[in-house]
Amino acid sequence: MRLDKFLTETGAGTRSEVKKWIKSGAVTVNGESAKRPELKIDENRDVICCCGQTLAYQAYEYYLFHKPAGCVTATEDGRHRTVMDYLTETARKDLFPVGRLDIDTEGLLLITNDGVLAHRLLSPTRHVPKTYYARIAGRVTEEDGALFAQGLEIGDDKPAKPAELVIIRAGEESEVTLTITEGRYHQVKRMFEAVGKKVLYLKRLSMGSLVLPDDLHPGEYRALTAEELHDLKQCSV
Ligand code: URA
Repeated sequence: MRLDKFLTETGAGTRSEVKKWIKSGAVTVNGESAKRPELKIDENRDVICCCGQTLAYQAYEYYLFHKPAGCVTATEDGRHRTVMDYLTETARKDLFPVGRLDIDTEGLLLITNDGVLAHRLLSPTRHVPKTYYARIAGRVTEEDGALFAQGLEIGDDKPAKPAELVIIRAGEESEVTLTITEGRYHQVKRMFEAVGKKVLYLKRLSMGSLVLPDDLHPGEYRALTAEELHDLKQCSV
């Protein structure tokens, strides 16, 4: 790997900062000053120091993001702000969001560069549960819950897989949680449409073992803890 790429990927600084540090002699490889950004290093063996600090290379990174409404779940978009625009400038460029939340949906989104874990979490055969909190126009009933539990026809080739509805409050406007094990396009909204109701607000609370923390506000993100990562890998095996 090139030295400048290693430095930006470990979050040492932006590309231009990294170039400046290398040129100024602030970067050493195995104790020797390294002045060429294109120098090839072995990220698993060489000891790289920048401004006196030894840098550890992590092949994979995992972030828990609280997606706010108004941004799209994509790495690039010509028209809208994307979820990736919330990451700092020094974030590595191979990160991507795992799965999709609609532009108006809020809540938990995993951002990583680990394609294998992403594939496992999204695979329809692994049935990783995703729980959403929703506000619904109209009175949600136990009958709706029974239909969701059976597996509802939502206009695709196959009915939706059985889902678990919990009614928190039923009234002119209702509050519920819904746990689904698939990730079809607009799935929660289409499930409620199929029982004649409209989703007014939608927020993902969890994916597998990973839960949106109360103290992570919309637009904020943080690295997964070692325990969160361990549990997430376990539940997607
Ligand atoms: N279901 C939806 O309808 N929208 C989402 O963003 C996620 C699940």
